[in-house]
Amino acid sequence: MDKFFINGGNCLKGEIKIDCAKNSLLPILAGCILVNGQVLLKNVPKYKDVCAMCDILLNLGGFVKWQGDDLLVDCSQIDKSEISNELASVVRSSIFTLGPILSRLGCAKVAYPGGCDIGLRPIDIHLNGLKELGCKIVEKNGYIYGQKLKRNKSEIMLKFPSVGATENLLMFASLFEGRTVIYNAAKEPEIVDLACFLNKCGAKIDGAGSDIILVEGVKNLHGCEHQAIPDRIEAGTFLIAGAVCNGDIYLKNAIYEHNSALIDKLEVCGCKVLKEKKGIRIIAPSVLESFGDIETAVYPGFPTDLQPQMATLGCVCNGCSLIFENVFESRFNYVGQLLKMGADIKFKSSICIIRGKRKLYGADVWATDLRGGAALVLAGLFSEGYTTVDNIGLIDRGYFKLEEKLVALGGDIKRI
Ligand code: UD1
Repeated sequence: MDKFFINGGNCLKGEIKIDCAKNSLLPILAGCILVNGQVLLKNVPKYKDVCAMCDILLNLGGFVKWQGDDLLVDCSQIDKSEISNELASVVRSSIFTLGPILSRLGCAKVAYPGGCDIGLRPIDIHLNGLKELGCKIVEKNGYIYGQKLKRNKSEIMLKFPSVGATENLLMFASLFEGRTVIYNAAKEPEIVDLACFLNKCGAKIDGAGSDIILVEGVKNLHGCEHQAIPDRIEAGTFLIAGAVCNGDIYLKNAIYEHNSALIDKLEVCGCKVLKEKKGIRIIAPSVLESFGDIETAVYPGFPTDLQPQMATLGCVCNGCSLIFENVFESRFNYVGQLLKMGADIKFKSSICIIRGKRKLYGADVWATDLRGGAALVLAGLFSEGYTTVDNIGLIDRGYFKLEEKLVALGGDIKRI
């Protein structure tokens, strides 16, 4: 397994381009299962999770081919409806295939999904939604067996606006005859992007981005060309990196509105964050004030995927910062690693108290999960001395060429 070797202390300055969003591409790749025709996805970074989803599509009988930075997918010929434990356990988004496989082929056998260890991550909302719409679902020996039957309900109410469940259900409904209304749907920009992609393929989805989504089932979806939206979590990570490393950086493609909750907090710290024509610029002062507190929430609230990086920021600010994690129950696994670097953090269940000391020291640390790993990289960039971040396969799941982008900004980091 590769590691990052970081020599901390450099300021970050310059420009980088934000890639297409991992969390858009994963459901879109699952959505390709519904499509009878060629889909050309433009500018797809080779995130590890994207490659894992490609393996799943290939295994179902789909065709997947990289054409430079673009990805050509054709699932016209898919004939298998089973996803093994070996494939499903690699990536959380394997569960997104359940709705599309059921809708397209009428039956499915999908193993439980893997993914980062940040909580229990049940899938009851996905399964209950499919049952309510008209599927028979049986869970047995680590597999979910599904069968598409006649429509039961037309209107379903999610008990929580789960991103994945909303995506699964709107994909299922796209090829399910009749009208489906999803109440209390998730409103994340990636849901809007998925709906936009499916509508380009001929689906009839209305209301994505609001909490009520209407889907009129169609008989067939055709191919299209699509470019996923810029990754707001990658953009957010670099904005925080800019703040932590006394930066002046320009993030080309980043969408200001998608990161409003973060930008508000960075401004509290004393950073200037500018909305520019085609991106976002951050200019950070050498001494940061505390961001006060953050509470993670569904969009447009503060994203849980930027919570660990904020803990690093809290360590390098003046004063005390508080983090309330409301989305995933064990998302503070990375804290022990920050403590090794000299951080002063206390946490209990979902609350984390950070006393900013404006000092961290290089250490050998271990990425506990994707975003927690990113938090350690930021800490390493700030720290006095050398840091190695081990287990970076987890970071590669959702950042593409992270070290190259940081080097372009002046960071001293290499993969060893
Ligand atoms: C997606 C994102 C992930 C992000 C998360 C929250 C992708 C590939 N991943 O994950 O990066 O951190 O949204 O913004 O898009 N829940 C249930 N039952 C369910 C489903 C979810 O109880 O059936 C709970 C989860 O345990 C969690 C909360 O709902 O506490 C949010 O989960 P959800 O929105 O589903 O997140 P994911 O789709 O897994």
